[in-house]
Amino acid sequence: MDKIYTVSAVLAALILPYILWCIIEPFFFNLDSAVLKRSSGEGSRDKGITVKKLPPVSATGTDKPDLRFFFFSDIHTEWCPVSSGRLCNAIRKSHLETPLDAVIFGGDIVTYPRNAKNGYKYLSAVSSCCKELGIPFYGVSGNHDSDLINAPEASGFISLENRTVTLNSNKNGTEITLAGLPDSGRKNRVWSSKMPCGNETPVILVVHDPNAFIHLDPGNRPEYMLSGHLHGGQMKFPFRIEFTVLRKSDKLPQMGAVQGPYDISGTKVFISRGLGCGLLPFRFLSVPEATVIGIFL
Ligand SMILES: [Fe+2]
Repeated sequence: MDKIYTVSAVLAALILPYILWCIIEPFFFNLDSAVLKRSSGEGSRDKGITVKKLPPVSATGTDKPDLRFFFFSDIHTEWCPVSSGRLCNAIRKSHLETPLDAVIFGGDIVTYPRNAKNGYKYLSAVSSCCKELGIPFYGVSGNHDSDLINAPEASGFISLENRTVTLNSNKNGTEITLAGLPDSGRKNRVWSSKMPCGNETPVILVVHDPNAFIHLDPGNRPEYMLSGHLHGGQMKFPFRIEFTVLRKSDKLPQMGAVQGPYDISGTKVFISRGLGCGLLPFRFLSVPEATVIGIFL
């Protein structure tokens, strides 16, 4: 009896703090910074899929980037303790420190389409903030948004899905294409092998699920990619069980790409942990984040 009591007490001592932290962590918010930089003369691309983690480099204290974005993803407003007001304050603060060229949303407005109104309200507040600061607000849909109708219009962002926008480098005016791909949703998943643009200029692709990269024609891959979807694992478990057992269909995490900056087959990629929680309202060692990203050509 004593043994059972001791084992139960030890398990409770381990599990209760874990559960408590899972409940508390979604209320934190990190405003991170990252740099996506191509080496001079970098041109060759791997035809297969190779994943290399890039070292974290703060956008502050480096040279002026060609473009500077504020990127956030996966708000899932059913459980997103990072309010739109808190996010707008972060956008305002970042823009006042060094001007932003765009605010970009990486998809997943809500977990369930029936709650779309709350998601639109959240993003409309971000849109108003961007308008007030004179920053364009772009976005794509996520796998949870595939049944939403007119989400960009209702949310106030400019859709990048199968569209392109031409931006200019703040350093020398070089043209850079910002492009996006839609997400078909997880049921009857359809992956695109084609990009919505050619490769005459450097291309920054915004796509919700980074696994989309695997399906792109190797001859038409972008130079840069911004994604979300993986929530940094949301609740990290030992041995990456969250991916190796629970999310087996996500190929890139099996290869090590979960959150932050990577070189994937020569493309510089940033994967956001996102802001909200999907399905379960918990996070563990995956603090909600928005990120200021410096793009260097
Ligand atoms: Fe998500």
